[in-house]
Amino acid sequence: MTHAPSTVAPSTSPQLTAIRGEIVHFLADPTHDARALEHFADGVLIVRAGHVAECGPSPELLAKLPAGTPLADYRGKLILPGFVDTHVHYPQTDIIASHGEQLLEWLEKYTFPAERRFADPAHAAEVADFFCTELLRNGTTTAAAFATVHAASVDALFKAAHARRMRLITGKVLMDRNCPDFLCDTAAAGDAESKALIERWHGRDRLLYAITPRFAPTSTPTQMQLAGRLFAEHPGVYLQSHLAENRGEVDWAAQLYPEARSYLDVYARFGQLGMRALFAHCLWLDDADRRRMAETGSAMSFCPTSNLFLGSGLFDLQRARELGVRVGLGTDVGAGTSFSMLQTLNEAYKVLQLQGQQLSAESAFHLATLGGAHSLYLDDRIGNFAPGKEADFVVLDPRATPLLARRSAACTTLAERLFVLMMLGDDRAVAATHVLGEAA
Ligand code: GUN
Ligand code: ZN
Repeated sequence: MTHAPSTVAPSTSPQLTAIRGEIVHFLADPTHDARALEHFADGVLIVRAGHVAECGPSPELLAKLPAGTPLADYRGKLILPGFVDTHVHYPQTDIIASHGEQLLEWLEKYTFPAERRFADPAHAAEVADFFCTELLRNGTTTAAAFATVHAASVDALFKAAHARRMRLITGKVLMDRNCPDFLCDTAAAGDAESKALIERWHGRDRLLYAITPRFAPTSTPTQMQLAGRLFAEHPGVYLQSHLAENRGEVDWAAQLYPEARSYLDVYARFGQLGMRALFAHCLWLDDADRRRMAETGSAMSFCPTSNLFLGSGLFDLQRARELGVRVGLGTDVGAGTSFSMLQTLNEAYKVLQLQGQQLSAESAFHLATLGGAHSLYLDDRIGNFAPGKEADFVVLDPRATPLLARRSAACTTLAERLFVLMMLGDDRAVAATHVLGEAA
């Protein structure tokens, strides 16, 4: 039996706390709705037991607060919902910025040797701790992360996230062919280990499990079939994989699965599309694939720093949007070059510029918050400051560096200030991150 995900996150302190600052969040997608952004220049967020009680203008809300309510004063800074990183690899933390290769060679040369080390649970625990701390230092409070083939690597990451009360989705990588022996599982063992991990972790506080076939080329049809079956048998569980990232990879998938119409069709044939199915990259797709993703409720993770770093290609956000596909943003560390979702938005902007597309600051911050939550089917719990949501937020300092301060001082609109933050900001701009209302 799978546990249903808990609808209420663990309560922290039953008492009220208030957080004052400039509040920016989204009630809807600003690309479709001009009134989607809500802004309180001097705002207050009231948190009760880790959840948003109310969010509004300061004078009104402060007047209503019971005397003695603790108040965190972030005036002069922006308060936004915590960032949602929809695709990242924790075992690749130590190979970020490895020189010179495109995807398939990069996997062989850097990734597989790094992942081998996760056979050692002590190594996995040490990296998992660093990784979660680094996410929070960058304002990321929710992530969908890959572990390695080792079940203990999943335990290590769930433990580290649990200790920090983060929302985290992860799973054991399934990989039973076309990989080094030291990382190769079998279809049967991968299936059994995934099941045991689902039982152990899925729905425990804020943790959620993702069935994780690495990508079609490293799984046999039998493993793909079992992964699809597991996905069907466990409602509420996620499935995450990679799709159409690199042209050599696309050709390879076509050779291995000649009966499939397209790379996406491989996943479809094995029952791996649907709500909570999440595919990183999605660069080399046609409109039939995009329509199928939209129809099935499958989501794309747009990973701009990775796509530029590995020379993979340019993600067509406009087309994904036009066809109604759910899209979130991913850092994809270690092919991605930053844990910062601000830096990731910076490169998203440039990827779209190269295709004659524009990313407004409003759309960008929506993508990094409520849009990401929507792509993960978590927008009923996180992503904005609607009453009842889990009170995860990031505090951004527009004067964090001399250049940011100078450029921000010249801004006249909120959109301009947000744009400057995403172009010039990084971890230095994160003044604080709060998880369930409390400073991380
Ligand atoms: N495709 C299969 N595995 C990986 C990975 O670890 N990183 C990236 N960027 N693409 C992949
Ligand atoms: Zn990836």
